[in-house]
Amino acid sequence: MTSTPLNTRFAQLFQLSSPIALAPMALATGGALTATCAQAGALGLLGGGYGDLAWTQREYTLATELLKSDAASHARLGCGFITWKLDENAEALDWVLTQKPCAIMLSFGDPRPYAGRIADAGAQLICQVQRLDQVAQAIEAGASVIVAQGGEAGGHGANALEGRSTFTLVPEVADYLAAHAPNTLLLAAGGVADGRGLAAALMLGADGVLVGSRLWATTESLAATGAKTQATHTSGDGTARSQVFDILRRKNWPAPYDFRAIRNDLHRALENDIPGLKANPEPARASYDAGIKAADFSRAHATAGEAVGLIADVPNAREVIARMTQQAHALLTQ
Ligand SMILES: Cc1cc2nc3c(=O)[nH]c(=O)nc-3n(C[C@H](O)[C@H](O)[C@H](O)COP(=O)(O)O)c2cc1C
Repeated sequence: MTSTPLNTRFAQLFQLSSPIALAPMALATGGALTATCAQAGALGLLGGGYGDLAWTQREYTLATELLKSDAASHARLGCGFITWKLDENAEALDWVLTQKPCAIMLSFGDPRPYAGRIADAGAQLICQVQRLDQVAQAIEAGASVIVAQGGEAGGHGANALEGRSTFTLVPEVADYLAAHAPNTLLLAAGGVADGRGLAAALMLGADGVLVGSRLWATTESLAATGAKTQATHTSGDGTARSQVFDILRRKNWPAPYDFRAIRNDLHRALENDIPGLKANPEPARASYDAGIKAADFSRAHATAGEAVGLIADVPNAREVIARMTQQAHALLTQ
C-alpha cells in the first residue's frame, strides 16, 4: 500500500492498512468491535467513555484475548475516555495504561492533566476538539493526533452556539497545524460513513478519519439491535442535537456539550421546553426508562449522527472498513 493515497502519515504512525480510526463510543465500542477493527487494519479505540473500571477491564481484556495470537493487530489497540469524567475518577485510565495501549483518545475537557502519564506509558495522545480555539491546548498537551469533530457527529459534541461543521473545521485546523505544529496529525470526524467521506476528508487536509455512527451500526457493536434497525430506516434529516437525552439519562454534561441522536417521538414531545423538562424531569424519565426496558425506540434513544442517512444495513465491521477503503481508493486514484 506504500504508493496509495490511503497510506497517510496517520496510517504509517499506527501501521494501518487504511487511515480509519474506530471512535471510542461509550457502551457501544466494546472489545469485539475494537478487535475486529484492529484486525481489519484500522485503529481500534475501545469506548472507555465515562470511565467505568469494571466495564473497561472486561471489554479491554476481551479485545486483548481476541488479538492474542495477532501481535500486529494488538499493536493497533487503544482506548478513549470522556475527559471531564476523568476529572472525577481516572482509575480506568490508569488501569488501561498498565495494558500498554498504542493510543489514548481524550475528548470533552482539558487533556493536559493526563498527558504526562499517557506519555510515560508510551501511548500516543489523541485529542478530539470541536472548535479551532481548542487546538492550541491539545498541542500543548502533546497530542500526536487531533480529531476535528463537526456537529454532524453522533453522540456528544459542541452545541449549536459553539459547534462547527466538519466541512469547514477540518481544513481550518489543517491550515493551523501546517503553520504551528506540522508534525501533529489530523483526523476528520462527524458525518464520515463511506468512501466518499474518507476521500473528502483527505482532500480537506486530514490524515484520516474517525468513524462513529457507521461502525456503531455493525454486528459487533454493543448497541441495542432495535436501535441499529431504527438507524437503517432513518434519513439524515431524522437526528437532532439537544440536551433531551442527557436529562432523561441523568447525565450531568457541562456546557457547551450536547448530544445528537435519532429524534424519536419522546424527543419531539420534549424538545421545545428544555427548561420545563429540567424543572420536572421525572415523568419523562419514567417514560424513557420504560422505553429502554421494552426496547421501544420511539422512547429510548438510538445514538447516531447525520451519517445515519448513509446507513442502510448492519454488516460486520470488517465489511464496513473494506467498503470504505475500496471506495475511497477508487475515488482518489481514478
Ligand atoms: C454511540 C456513540 C457514542 C459516542 N461516545 C463517545 C465517547 O464516549 N467519547 C467520545 O470521545 N466520543 C464519543 N462519540 C463521538 C465520536 O467520538 C465521534 O466524534 C463521532 O461518532 C463521529 O461522527 P459520526 O458519528 O458521524 O461518525 C460517540 C458517538 C456515537 C455515535
